[in-house]
Amino acid sequence: MKVTVVGAGAVGASCAEYIAIKDFASEVVLLDIKEGFAEGKAMDLMQTASLNGFDTKITGVTNDYSKTAGSDVCVITSGIPRKPGMTREELIGINAGIVKTVTSSLLEHSPNTIIIVVSNPMDTMTYLVHKTSGLPKNRIIGMGGALDSARFKYRLAEATGAPISDIDGMVIGGHSDVGMVPLTRLATRNSVPVSEFISEERMEQVKEDTKVGGATLTKLLGTSAWYAPGAAVSGLVQAIACDQKKIYPCSTLLEGEYGLSDLCIGVPVVLGKDGIEKIVEIELNDKEKELMATSAEGVKKTNGLLEL
Ligand code: 2OP
Repeated sequence: MKVTVVGAGAVGASCAEYIAIKDFASEVVLLDIKEGFAEGKAMDLMQTASLNGFDTKITGVTNDYSKTAGSDVCVITSGIPRKPGMTREELIGINAGIVKTVTSSLLEHSPNTIIIVVSNPMDTMTYLVHKTSGLPKNRIIGMGGALDSARFKYRLAEATGAPISDIDGMVIGGHSDVGMVPLTRLATRNSVPVSEFISEERMEQVKEDTKVGGATLTKLLGTSAWYAPGAAVSGLVQAIACDQKKIYPCSTLLEGEYGLSDLCIGVPVVLGKDGIEKIVEIELNDKEKELMATSAEGVKKTNGLLEL
């Protein structure tokens, strides 16, 4: 299993590190446009191999896509991250051109690859890859919901005092500060609805803290987060590489599912060797349907800024 990660910044390097530590891929190619940057990060990561006990081979390259040839999965993290006070949507002007170019370069050498999009605004970037790559929709995956769900579980564990391993929860909808839909109704603490442990008022706070989870960290860090985004991507890559048939909320092209069409937005999907193997349609209540519809409107508005 060969994986390419484009962008050796904090998210890309963290993704490469977690993939290596999980040791399910034979090779990870880390590519960046900055001379020597990916090579340095790859060498530093490889010098943890004996310490972290992995055999995955991480190679760094500067803008040489021939070295990515034959990749089974390609992760696109390249582009600028947001600064404090910015929305993800404000990145579209610069990141759209980068994602389009990177996608074309990747497909030139790995025409059968599965692409995972991380660059923001992620739902719109995922839609852009659909509109420009010609890849079948099962092989284009947007990573946002896996990260948002991890932040949701963090907040639920915080609110219940439960060990996070007892918490299950999912966030669907757009990967945006206002468009996320944390499914509080379905969240559980070891099969017990979390509503048994959290007041309605506190649940509202959990939802709001989840939605601005990225912005909260950007304010603290001065740039976008990287550990949880990198870990979330590595989980999607592993589900594909190991044909796990795991359900993750991922941004994918909808063609009528959830009553939505012609956009990419976060919904539960089964991930396996063929990428998105099935879209899972949860029976949403009226409020959840309304939130998803509003979220979709926001994503489509951002999609409208693309010059396709
Ligand atoms: C985040 O929410 C980078 O969009 C990513 O941290």
